[in-house]
This record gives sequence, structure tokens and C-alpha cells, in this order.
Amino acid sequence: MQLAKWAHDLAESMLAESLPDRWAHSQRVYSQALTLAPALGADAELLAAAAIAHDVGYAQAAVDTGQHMIDGARYLRDVAGADPRLCSLVAFHTSSPWEASELGLSDALAEFGPAEPDLVDAITYCDLTSSPVGALVDPAERLAEVLARYGPEHVVYQAVSAARPELLARVARVRQRSLEAKLSNLS
Ligand SMILES: [Fe+2]
Repeated sequence: MQLAKWAHDLAESMLAESLPDRWAHSQRVYSQALTLAPALGADAELLAAAAIAHDVGYAQAAVDTGQHMIDGARYLRDVAGADPRLCSLVAFHTSSPWEASELGLSDALAEFGPAEPDLVDAITYCDLTSSPVGALVDPAERLAEVLARYGPEHVVYQAVSAARPELLARVARVRQRSLEAKLSNLS
């Protein structure tokens, strides 16, 4: 777990003290990523690394555009020298393309493409099953909480409203793949 350990130490140094709730959330996202390992095979460590680092764009050292997925991916690429696939997963996680579109940042996001759909599904599942303070949560409740927290005027509200059907479809696909992997391990 060399890549995951590296990402864990980096994310901890950026979030643990200054943004403790984000750090608690990130740790839950990481533990959710570990539960998907049987379905991911060789990409399990990459997902774990992206999970723990997915919100580093909220750290003061990384904030630039204000779109935390792009800011985090840029920091990981330009400052930390991270694996391009790790940067891509952080860039595209959850509602990022919708937020980038609302903010006129789609070209900035495209620098990290192409997205890897199965892994984007997986990191979105991990993010949406983890509450803002690190508890396990139902994805539909999590999205409702995000909408309530930001309010209808905010770009995140507009992006998440538009993204909601696809985000829940990602969760369903991951659950199905995870179930299939468990069943094939039993047979
Ligand atoms: Fe998150």
C-alpha cells in the first residue's frame, strides 16, 4: 500500500489540523474504498489513495479556482508530483464535471482527462456514503444534506441538482459490481 500510504500522509498533513471534519470525512471515504478492493483488483490501491486525498483541494495551500476537485488535482500534480491517474480521479470525483461547467472550468478539468468511468463510479460511491463528519450515510440523504447546506443560489446546489440522477446511478453500479465480485469469490 505504498501509494495509499503516501497519499494518506499527504492528506493528513493538509487537512487533519486545519479542517478536522474534512479529515474525518476523508478517512471514512478511505475505509469505504477498502471495502471495494475485491471488485477492483489491481486498481484497489489507486482508489484508496484517491479516496484519502480526494478533498485536499479544500486545504488553504491548494485553494485556487475554488472548485475543490480541480484545485486538489492541480496541487497533487504540480506540487506533490502525484501519479496522473490519482490526479484524474481526484479531478473527476462526484459532481466535479457539473460544477466545472457551472463555473466555466470545463477546460481546466479536461486537463486531467480522460476520466476512468469505473473508478469515478467507485470514488463517487465512497464519497456519497460518507457524511461530512465521517459517519456512514445513505447517498440520497447525503445529497439532500448537500443541497440544504448550500441553498438554491449556490453553484454547488445547481451542479448537484443536475448531477443527482447520474450520481445515484453510479452508486447503484458500484453496489452491483461489488455484489458480483463477492459472489464470484464464493464460487
Ligand atoms: Fe468528499
